[in-house]
Amino acid sequence: MARPKIALIGAGQIGGTLAHLAAIKELGDIVLFDISEGTPQGKALDIAESGPVEKFDAKLKGTNDYADIAGADVCIVTAGVPRKPGMSRDDLLGINLKVMKAVGEGIRDNAPDAFVICITNPLDAMVWALREFSGLPHEKVVGMAGVLDSARFRHFLAEEFDVSMRDVSAFVLGGHGDTMVPLVRYSTVGGIPLPDLVEMGWTSQENMDAIVQRTRDGGAEIVGLLKTGSAFYAPAASAIEMAEAFLKDQKRLLPCAAWVDGALGLTGMYVGVPTVIGAGGIERVVDIKLTRDEQAMFDKSVEAVKGLVEACKAIDSSLA
Ligand code: APR
Repeated sequence: MARPKIALIGAGQIGGTLAHLAAIKELGDIVLFDISEGTPQGKALDIAESGPVEKFDAKLKGTNDYADIAGADVCIVTAGVPRKPGMSRDDLLGINLKVMKAVGEGIRDNAPDAFVICITNPLDAMVWALREFSGLPHEKVVGMAGVLDSARFRHFLAEEFDVSMRDVSAFVLGGHGDTMVPLVRYSTVGGIPLPDLVEMGWTSQENMDAIVQRTRDGGAEIVGLLKTGSAFYAPAASAIEMAEAFLKDQKRLLPCAAWVDGALGLTGMYVGVPTVIGAGGIERVVDIKLTRDEQAMFDKSVEAVKGLVEACKAIDSSLA
């Protein structure tokens, strides 16, 4: 059987890391696309030259021509401008909306059967716009946010408890922004919910609250440290986990910015929810029950996402 084809739209910091991870994991042949001439070609060649050392079989191609993504099984979109220090994700809206239009049309014309994972920020609005511009089925277009936010939460929890990250499972809902909802009640260490661990004296409520806040600010913390760009290792790893779930029909239960129409009381919008990813793309949105407080936080997050979508419609009337 021919190898799957993975198209990476955007060959910047995340795009390059995606290509490297996809190659090392032998997920398929890789096409790196970018408008910048030389960058995708250079990165593709550099990674290909690591193949004999790493011992992977994957073809890599860098390109500035959308025709080269033809027939891709997966497209991962990082094209756009990343956040600079002091810039909110929302400041990026106007610039990256135009990029989504070009990318959406490129995918529509060349890889209409692909499973599309959007990473470009502000995530919930950009994945919605990308779906609109591409016209692909909703279950085949999804945003990467929850896997990354949960990974950050898991990392902080594992450090706090001094346990393996493998045994920490965490749950983050809502938009990928300051209003995201890390769900403490559904997050566990070896199956023990976090509120029980506070009661057991493993940590204090203050520390738990601080970890929740640090998770919300996780992206900004990295931007503040790097100064010239935003996070790329963990975002790339997170998107690769989603791509692998699709390519191998793993039926993974992963939090993603998915199209929700009916579940969680929502009618037709993209927001972070638990999903099942398999060969059909987003095969299920998990309709979890929330407490009153959790619901209030989720509602606030939903409103923030709706505000961004309205702002997109105001900028580009074809979306209204
Ligand atoms: N089509 C294709 N590529 C584009 C386009 C376009 N219309 N516009 C910009 N690009 C490319 C740039 O040339 C650059 O190589 O997108 C790439 C973005 O790479 P970086 O600037 O290194 O950004 P990165 O850190 O990879 O983040 C990408 O993901 O997390 C989000 O907020 C982040 O929106 C940003 C995106």
